[in-house]
Amino acid sequence: MLNLVIFGGPGSGKGTQSEHIVKEYSLFHISTGDVLRRIIASGSQLGQQVESIISKGNLIPDEMMVEILANELDSNPATANGVIFDGFPRTINQAKALKEMLAKRDTKVHAVVGLEVDDELLIERLIKRGQDSGRSDDNLETIKQRLDVYHNQTSPLRDYYIAEGKYLAIDGTGTIEQISATIINAVNEKVK
Ligand code: AP5
Ligand code: MG
Repeated sequence: MLNLVIFGGPGSGKGTQSEHIVKEYSLFHISTGDVLRRIIASGSQLGQQVESIISKGNLIPDEMMVEILANELDSNPATANGVIFDGFPRTINQAKALKEMLAKRDTKVHAVVGLEVDDELLIERLIKRGQDSGRSDDNLETIKQRLDVYHNQTSPLRDYYIAEGKYLAIDGTGTIEQISATIINAVNEKVK
């Protein structure tokens, strides 16, 4: 069993690379952004609440997010074979909650894939995607806020996972295929 966290700024390639990694290791992909966008699409009251937070580029409160994640783990039996967590954790509290959640299931995070990309390139990628993504957060104002939130609230996790000996620094620039190959080498080296 292998549990990975894929970590990085908005537009760093978490979703893109997850698609390759799930195939390599037969993992279940949980993207909390995708889960939240499904909740929005359901049109529920919770969905409206989530939409107003996401469109401003802010984070869903930890307590709500942890509950949503626990529900994803429990409602998908395939998660028992291993998961790639994309977009979670995003705060130190979420990282602690994930550790507890996995410990209760007799497992742990084995490695954290950290996609490192400069802000200028992140903005360029997201503006380009915004032309047809339909995502309410792919506009310059919200992208800037997402970057601020990333630097203030999420990037401290890098040191947290370095201290746990789990962080794999990956250059997130270059072709999608090059980056995938680098990730797979680094993960194999780490868990062999
Ligand atoms: P989320 O959906 O996770 O968005 P994000 O972190 O801002 O990242 P993206 O999904 O936009 O980018 P990505 O890293 O997946 O890159 P991608 O592969 O798409 O979260 C959205 C919101 O939900 C948050 O802002 C927050 O409000 C809320 N939320 C989610 N999780 C939460 C949590 N745990 N706690 C609280 N709130 C939470 O690639 C981006 C683009 O670049 C694509 O167009 C792609 O084709 C392109 N690209 C990728 N790789 C390359 C490459 N190598 N070269 C050229 N282009 C590339
Ligand atoms: Mg994504």
